[in-house]
Amino acid sequence: MPTSRASVRTARATRYLTQLRKHTDRIRHHNGALTEWSDTEGTIELPWGRCTLRTSRDELTLHAEAENNERLRRVQDAITTRLQTIGRRDALTIAWTRSAASIVEALTAPAGRADPFPLYAEAHELGPVSAIADTWFLVSGYAAVDQVLRNPDFGPSPRSPEPRNPDLPSMSRSILWADPPDHGRMRSLMSQVFTPRRVAALRPAIETAVESLLDGLDGDPVDFMDRFAFPLPITVIGEMLGVPPSDRDRFRPLATDLTEALELPALTSRSTAAESAARELGEYFTALIRDRRAHPRDDLVSALVTTDGRLTDDQLLANLILLLVAGFETTTNLLGNGLALLFDHPEVASAIRSGELPAEQFVEEVLRYDSPVQITTRTARTETLTIAGTPIPKGSQVVLLIGAANRDPSRYPDPDRFDPSRRDTKPLSFGAGPHICLGNALARLEAAIAFPRLLTRYPAISPSTPPTRRDRLTLRGHTTLPIHLNGV
Ligand code: HEM
Repeated sequence: MPTSRASVRTARATRYLTQLRKHTDRIRHHNGALTEWSDTEGTIELPWGRCTLRTSRDELTLHAEAENNERLRRVQDAITTRLQTIGRRDALTIAWTRSAASIVEALTAPAGRADPFPLYAEAHELGPVSAIADTWFLVSGYAAVDQVLRNPDFGPSPRSPEPRNPDLPSMSRSILWADPPDHGRMRSLMSQVFTPRRVAALRPAIETAVESLLDGLDGDPVDFMDRFAFPLPITVIGEMLGVPPSDRDRFRPLATDLTEALELPALTSRSTAAESAARELGEYFTALIRDRRAHPRDDLVSALVTTDGRLTDDQLLANLILLLVAGFETTTNLLGNGLALLFDHPEVASAIRSGELPAEQFVEEVLRYDSPVQITTRTARTETLTIAGTPIPKGSQVVLLIGAANRDPSRYPDPDRFDPSRRDTKPLSFGAGPHICLGNALARLEAAIAFPRLLTRYPAISPSTPPTRRDRLTLRGHTTLPIHLNGV
């Protein structure tokens, strides 16, 4: 249940309590306020929730609770207004701090999804880890998120919605949600195709893809998401997997539907769109696997099918779908989030164009400041686990706010400032520990090649109508980002 607290420094706490009691007794017939009082404590039941007040020698503490944030705000407002009226001579200031449950509820509301960063700042006020409920925790501190990610005793936990039909392929059977020993086996197989050497060898192919997309840009305005941010990563991962170019366009809506599974449960219901996307992708890759078993080629699907027996058919399918979906949707968002930031910071665009600012350094700051992945989750698999000194009972769910960790004021000075001159950025946008993103070098390389080429090729590139954000919390990006290629 959303709750909030406020401490009011005052030597007259008892007097205020008494006055508040008299006031609520007077008006209870009007607004249904019911009260319980002792000399040092009182509870006011309002139509929207309740507030408990406690006094000490130099402090009045308030604890509000309500069913949801809207009601909580009304409780807070009612108490604040009344206290400020009766305490006007002392100019009382009442600053409420919301609980973790209230922050999570706000994060899952449309305004929180659109701009989660003020809520992350509130989470930092609570400390690196706080309880949402008995076995549900919110972790926002950089060191704490990093510690959990690196500890295999915190296992990955699917956020679902799982396809209702157990025969459908599901990302929860993929490496992303596997525990040892399955995870180690899948990881060692799949990492063979993502070695730094193999990724570096993709540079010429990425450069060619970038040039060809830039060549093909025309019209005014142009939607950057549609014409560049989406096609680049899908071309690269499509080439790697061996998916023919003519099939690639159909994956964008399918991925959008399927990645609902990465949202917090509060944001989703069992989605029929996710189910039908799972079915369609399943059929597609089943056919591709069959084809590569019969006619192996020099691509990733062939490489993975020839490791027969080490991955079950289900796992193979789930991992291919994961690679496709994780491989482009996140990188698409990195490109879109990066360009939007360049529009807000033209001096940074000039520095990249002139070569003064290495694109790699810019990309790290984009990843930190506006991470394409904002949240992941874990489950406590063993007893006696702690996070930043807080005991975490076995079976607890842990929500890791990657986006908040990346803006932790104790890790980054002035964290809400976009500053590509930062050093030692090391954002947690790709995770950390055993599940650290397999494609992180590839995504970084694509972005580091794309931005300087885009800025040099179109020096007057500028925003057109305002971009639209995707209504998602976990995978943060844009639906559209209209641009003028040659200025207005
Ligand atoms: C900007 C782009 C990307 C971002 C921000 C990103 C982010 C992440 C994060 C945060 C995780 C860890 C999740 C967790 O521990 O709960 C992850 C895992 C993973 N990512 Fe990425 N990713 C990106 C691009 C890619 C690409 C291009 C690929 C593949 C081509 C890829 C493949 C994977 C795979 C296979 C895993 C699972 C690794 C494992 O569980 O061992 N990702 N990614």
